[in-house]
Amino acid sequence: MKPIKKITVPKLTSYKKKHRKLVIATAYDATFATLIDQSGVDAILVGDSLGMVIQGHENTIPVTVDDIVYHCRAVARGTQRAHIVGDMPFTANKMSSDKTLEDAARIIQKGHAESVKLEGGAEMAKTISRIVTSGIPVMGHVGMTPQSVHAFGGFKTQGKSAEAQKKIFDDAVAVAEAGAYAVVLEGIPSELAEEITHTVSIPTIGIGAGMHCDGQVLVCYDLLGMYETFRPKFVKQYAQLGMLTKKAVSNFADEVRNGQFPGEEHSTFLEK
Ligand code: KIV
Repeated sequence: MKPIKKITVPKLTSYKKKHRKLVIATAYDATFATLIDQSGVDAILVGDSLGMVIQGHENTIPVTVDDIVYHCRAVARGTQRAHIVGDMPFTANKMSSDKTLEDAARIIQKGHAESVKLEGGAEMAKTISRIVTSGIPVMGHVGMTPQSVHAFGGFKTQGKSAEAQKKIFDDAVAVAEAGAYAVVLEGIPSELAEEITHTVSIPTIGIGAGMHCDGQVLVCYDLLGMYETFRPKFVKQYAQLGMLTKKAVSNFADEVRNGQFPGEEHSTFLEK
């Protein structure tokens, strides 16, 4: 059997010239990481969305570097091919650039991620450049950056006014010029994402940013349809695992209660 080849940062960045779309899904544990890796995505993001989908918080702000390291380690154990991106959580991003560099190094060294993702635009350019110079590849993230949920007054599409569009455009350019190898464009109008995609030389990864980006990312729980009622416009559900899970567990409960499970085939007996 041929050894499985890891997808590297140079490979990911080469896709833009080849007009090949880049596909990223999130994962937070080894089981999902294995399934998602085997499905052929290019990269797995251990996102700070884990604060909401794993920990049950209302937003991503409570997530710590320790949480990211813990989940990255689990994902790394389940991943053979896809590139692994570890998210820099709120506490890592909003501190001094020394602390941010230290946290990025921990996510790579202890979490076994292969690059880090960092929210913020022009104001993070110096920090991005410092992390990149130290040998850690950085994916930027601009637009509706969830760690700024309080400043935005909710998870709302950004870039509605001409002034806001210019700021997001300048942020994406600053992140690219600082040395990021790709940039996530979240929750912005499709036309703005298209303009950024044509301007920067690095791949743009959209989430709620329309069809013109160089790639797309979705939270795995969203694309798998784990939530029956939460369905933002930018999410497409490719399965209804939420409904299937409830059905399967309720079948299990019924069979235990009516004595159908476990049957002889699920039991061991003393040898006669
Ligand atoms: O935390 C996350 O999962 C993310 C993606 C949604 C881009 O930042």
